[in-house]
Amino acid sequence: MSEKIAVIVTDYIETDLDWEAAEMAKRGIDFECYQLKTASEQEVIERTRNADIVVVNMVKCTRRVFEGWSKCKLVIRHGAGYDNVDVQALTERGIVLEYIPDYCSHEVAEQAIALMFACVRKVVWSGKVLRDSSARGEWDFAPIIPMFRMDGLTVGIVGCGRIGGLVHRKLRHFGVKFLVCDPYLSKDRKAEFGVETVDMETLCRGSDFVTVHTPLSDETRHLINAETLSWMKPNAYLVNTSRGGMVDHAALAESVKSGRIAGAAIDVFDDEPPRPDFPLLNLDNVILTPHISWYSEDSQQSIREKIVQDIDMFVDGSGPRIPVNPEALKARKDT
Ligand SMILES: NC(=O)c1ccc[n+]([C@@H]2O[C@H](COP(=O)([O-])OP(=O)(O)OC[C@H]3O[C@@H](n4cnc5c(N)ncnc54)[C@H](O)[C@@H]3O)[C@@H](O)[C@H]2O)c1
Repeated sequence: MSEKIAVIVTDYIETDLDWEAAEMAKRGIDFECYQLKTASEQEVIERTRNADIVVVNMVKCTRRVFEGWSKCKLVIRHGAGYDNVDVQALTERGIVLEYIPDYCSHEVAEQAIALMFACVRKVVWSGKVLRDSSARGEWDFAPIIPMFRMDGLTVGIVGCGRIGGLVHRKLRHFGVKFLVCDPYLSKDRKAEFGVETVDMETLCRGSDFVTVHTPLSDETRHLINAETLSWMKPNAYLVNTSRGGMVDHAALAESVKSGRIAGAAIDVFDDEPPRPDFPLLNLDNVILTPHISWYSEDSQQSIREKIVQDIDMFVDGSGPRIPVNPEALKARKDT
């Protein structure tokens, strides 16, 4: 590629992109960055018109925006999802979309594990016992009894891809047993984990934790619903760090309130942040975290490095690393 490449960033969550600008300068690549999250479609078009590569965070990437581009070949979505990008329209124009699904897999797996331990050792609820006991001048452990040890419990992993696989890898040293439900798990992955997969009913009936790590799709929406919850053990907890749409939250609230299951730990919601009438907001035995599983200082540096790596691979022709629409390459060749 002999012409000078232009990389344009539509919006970003970092304080600044000085590091990226320096990396691009080293490579002789033109670099511009904007904050267009609330800008009009027209302004987005004007700013990004001459890019070879567009890096996007939250800006809506619509068909009209792409129609305004003169030469873009690659869009990189800064993040693990790409709901804000019209993939079909990109594919039709032969533009590849890459995303970065692997920048925070360790963080999400660790969050799921942290939530499981918080449930089984009643960490959050213990704080209230401590404060109440302090006010009273004597211990009262009644609100957090009974408690159990993790060792010997069964963890049901729904979706054993990058994150579910890491949950398995990190947790197996704690003496837990596993049930895995993943109809698409390859023979090699099963051999790697030493597991056979089971169906949802077997997993729910046999697990002390059900932890969800599937992508959200028409197939998986409300995978956790009144029926699946009715299969779970009364001492079991549901942990969801994947996507809010995976769980029917009204049914989950009902199951927790009625004591059908022991509780839940949830990081992801239908509306974000959840509205004040979200049915799990004020329930005892439910731990809520603010869709933060992805975050660590390490994952933030990791995503920046992976985006630069993707740009390098585009320039030297060895990419795309993780394309959403590899068929766009074919569409490009055919035109
Ligand atoms: N909370 C956060 O901050 C955060 C951050 C990153 C990713 N995530 C979410 O975590 C989830 C998992 O991400 P990943 O990188 O591990 O994805 P992945 O694609 O590597 O793995 C997903 C696994 O789910 C399996 N699967 C698909 N349909 C299934 C079904 N019907 N039943 C059971 N298994 C099924 C797939 O075969 C695959 O093995 C995604 O929903 C992602 O959006 C959340």
